[in-house]
Amino acid sequence: MSPESDVERRELEDIEIELFIRALDLRYGYDFSGYAQASFHRRVRALHVSSGLPTISALTARLLHDEAYLPQVIARLSVPVSEMFRSPRSFELLRREVLPVLASYPQISIWQAGCAHGEEAYSLAILLKEAGLYNRTRIYATDISEEALSKAREGIYPLREARLFSDNYLKAGGGGSLSDWYTALYNHIKLDESLKERITFVNHNLVVDGVFGEMHLILCRNVLIYFGEDLQQRVIGLFRDSLVRGGFLALGDRERPVSGRFAQEFRPLVPGQPLYRRTTVS
Ligand SMILES: C[S@@+](CC[C@H](N)C(=O)[O-])C[C@H]1O[C@@H](n2cnc3c(N)ncnc32)[C@H](O)[C@@H]1O
Repeated sequence: MSPESDVERRELEDIEIELFIRALDLRYGYDFSGYAQASFHRRVRALHVSSGLPTISALTARLLHDEAYLPQVIARLSVPVSEMFRSPRSFELLRREVLPVLASYPQISIWQAGCAHGEEAYSLAILLKEAGLYNRTRIYATDISEEALSKAREGIYPLREARLFSDNYLKAGGGGSLSDWYTALYNHIKLDESLKERITFVNHNLVVDGVFGEMHLILCRNVLIYFGEDLQQRVIGLFRDSLVRGGFLALGDRERPVSGRFAQEFRPLVPGQPLYRRTTVS
């Protein structure tokens, strides 16, 4: 048999990746077929390289036979990268435009979808505490990755990130100093336990799981960017059905999937910003 050319090897790998995606779905119910394929394939290739296994087919075999390997696989495929007060302007907008409306509700429910290691959920908790609203709020912070969720529950971050987090906090209009909310320990910062009181970190997969109750605010930032067009539309429908009328939806800076059939159901709050309010039209 002649050695494979680079093109043949690449084509074979694409077939192996398709089979890997199918195996993840058939064996564990994780369906990644609706993700933006080019970037998803890159992440599968990177996972394969880091696994040290000879082929992607060998990776598929390990995944099929070793259930304990699944959390690592999901963590590597799902990009759990975040920052506290990431995109500070959007937190500043939440503080200015959204919190005054939320203040009119006796109980406030917030869903933060795609919470990674908890950075955004804790940022929201600080925002709400500073506005005097935290004790009547419940934040449901969800992610597909169990590894990410267990890190999120700890609320511990590398000390080297504290500078960035603090700068973001100030740019978001923070009233004090972020260091009021954490203790520095060796190479880490540990967030104040009181920030965890009203956050529930729970597994929820936007691809297959259902509606999440009567939410007043949904934050889902830098998640839809990884999804293909059809999946983005499914998820926007899920958010519409999870929001009370007049509820708010905050997406990532580069995410604009609220269009077409959803254009009537969400009104942009501030021109040019991915912050929307659910209208009363159904
Ligand atoms: C890049 S992070 C965004 C974190 C944070 N929202 C932010 O903007 O900084 C994307 C997160 O979405 C999660 N994610 C990916 N696919 C998901 C799905 N189908 N359901 C729920 N979460 C998902 C990933 O595990 C990851 O933690």
